[in-house]
Amino acid sequence: MQLIDNTGKEIIPNPLLDDHSSGNWQLAAKGISQYKTIYLNGRNYRCLWSTAETKEDTSYALMVASSMEEIHSDLQGLLFIFFAVIPLALIITGLTAYFISRAAFRSVTRMAETAQEITASSLNKRLQLPKAHDEVRMLGETLNDMIKRIDSAFKAQQQFIADASHEIRTPLTIIQSELELAERNSTDTLITENIKIALSEVDSMSSLTNSLLTLSKLDSMQMRLDRQPVRLDELLADCIQSMSATAAKENIQLFFHISEAIEILADREKLKSIFVNLIDNAIKYSHTNSAISIKMEKANDDLAAILIKDHGIGIAAEELANIFKRFYRCREVRARVRGNGLGLAIAQEFVAMHKGKILITSEPGKGTLITVQLPIP
Ligand SMILES: Nc1ncnc2c1ncn2[C@@H]1O[C@H](COP(=O)(O)OP(=O)(O)OP(=O)(O)O)[C@@H](O)[C@H]1O
Ligand SMILES: [Mg+2]
Repeated sequence: MQLIDNTGKEIIPNPLLDDHSSGNWQLAAKGISQYKTIYLNGRNYRCLWSTAETKEDTSYALMVASSMEEIHSDLQGLLFIFFAVIPLALIITGLTAYFISRAAFRSVTRMAETAQEITASSLNKRLQLPKAHDEVRMLGETLNDMIKRIDSAFKAQQQFIADASHEIRTPLTIIQSELELAERNSTDTLITENIKIALSEVDSMSSLTNSLLTLSKLDSMQMRLDRQPVRLDELLADCIQSMSATAAKENIQLFFHISEAIEILADREKLKSIFVNLIDNAIKYSHTNSAISIKMEKANDDLAAILIKDHGIGIAAEELANIFKRFYRCREVRARVRGNGLGLAIAQEFVAMHKGKILITSEPGKGTLITVQLPIP
């Protein structure tokens, strides 16, 4: 620092500042403060010339110079903060936010996963609610209430289908037996013909009600497997026997090939229903005077394979994916052949209950090969 009075006399001298003070101290003595950066001994100094007033008349000019090194090092620190600490802090904050939000959304993800598992046949499932009493839990409770309402509506609908099918079955059986009696007693050929048409309608309707009843039981999980040791070769022979009359009407020959006897653990009635359905299809969608081959073999030690091959109308490639859907019937057969489009849907569910598979390959105009695979215990 340097203190100079208004006559130019240095009260506190500082020869280092002399050169820089000239011209500035007079202004400072007049009351005009001055700021300037000067270069001294290899360093930058920030200087202030200002009036230093005393009680006496004399005014003084005070010059204060301060090294800028400290400011520079402070600025360096600030630069470090800008380019290293702030990005680091941002990364840490980002990561923390990511992990916190992931933890917070874990319950939402879990709920979404359960929601995805809920299908028409598993409406009894409920979303797992988080422990915290927050908005997510409220959302879960609301969704669970909604699933409960859908479940009740679904059950009521299934019950209605089951009750209706059940109620229709009895009058249908009565109509059928009355029509059969009338057919036997009729002497008029025209009336006999009409009765036959009515009988075939009744037949189709009872098959529809039976299928609907089976599907409603499957949907409401009322269908259980009554597993017992079953000789597959004998069961298939039974099925072929029961379908032989239908095949004979169209002059279709049923060939049965067995390589060895196979015993599996299965529900006899459901297996029969599967194979009768499949053989029925093979007959229905074959040409008259053709042949159907039914082959049973071991695909490997753990798997029995039953192959039903017809030389019928076949199925178009774009329709193959749909034939297991309920009520689906291929375009070509809809108007020509009777059916409800439920046989394969039921067969597939029964095979799945036995942990088996149905595979299908078909060529339009050439025929269809259906393979049923069933596990051997
Ligand atoms: N062996 C086959 N050859 C050609 N088409 C077939 C064969 N099996 C099934 N299909 C086609 O798949 C459709 C669905 O078969 P599904 O057995 O489910 O119904 P459906 O035979 O029409 O009626 P039902 O309920 O009386 O069985 C059939 O309508 C038919 O178009
Ligand atoms: Mg069928």
